[in-house]
Amino acid sequence: MDQYAVTVLPDQRLDDEKQIAFAGLYGPLEVAPPVRSQDGGPAASRRIRHREIFDVSNLDEQGNILDLSDQRRAYSQGNQLWHTDSSFRQKSATWSMLHARIIPPDGGDTDFADTRAAYDALPEATKLKLEGLIAEHSIWHSRAQLGGYTPTEEERKARPPARHPVVRRHPGSGRNALYIASHASHIIGWSVEEGRALLEELLAFATQPRFVYTHKWRPSDLVIWDNRCTLHRATPFESRAQIRDMRRTTVIDTRVETMAS
Ligand code: OGA
Ligand code: MN
Repeated sequence: MDQYAVTVLPDQRLDDEKQIAFAGLYGPLEVAPPVRSQDGGPAASRRIRHREIFDVSNLDEQGNILDLSDQRRAYSQGNQLWHTDSSFRQKSATWSMLHARIIPPDGGDTDFADTRAAYDALPEATKLKLEGLIAEHSIWHSRAQLGGYTPTEEERKARPPARHPVVRRHPGSGRNALYIASHASHIIGWSVEEGRALLEELLAFATQPRFVYTHKWRPSDLVIWDNRCTLHRATPFESRAQIRDMRRTTVIDTRVETMAS
């Protein structure tokens, strides 16, 4: 994991309990926030009982494909933007583990980019410019983009933004990594426009094909990635007709984050 940052373990016959137990070996697990129902009323009941499992599917609590108008559909569209999990939390994430239960016949791949390789390839002048910069990340920034999910005031309060250095030292490899995502909205101390332009430029640079691995799923694949030094995104599939049922467990980063050195 420290060298490659993404690991594929095929043929893992896991249920939710086993997936939680395995992920829990690597640290405390994040719990999924409540899901909002279609009409913006009280939180819908969860399809999956365990809150340590993030429901990365297009299914409702009855196991039917989500309505086109369902807010959960808009929310999960955000996964198609390049991001790293939980950068919008001050205690962000180390590893995510995604398990394929049901995959569609076409599409629904996951792309991964190594942000250490991207950092290494940056021009020296850019590396200097990035020294000491802090970005603000918010789940609501990425959700305002694809799908146009609009949070309630309560949701906003429950999930405030977080701030992280744009370049961090990846503990396991000792290498510098860009820590950026579609959750990142601006750079502290810069105008919003200038900060956003820089973040967009970095995201485009880091996700060039030469830094990307595309995972084509098979049922029962477990894919583990290190959120501290990668970006990822879901690719589209025929989500009105096909079922994609994936389940994620996410390990909380309990270390103090280290800026680049
Ligand atoms: C995730 C995620 C991508 C996908 O589970 O964190 O971004 O392909 N998933 O489902
Ligand atoms: Mn993700």
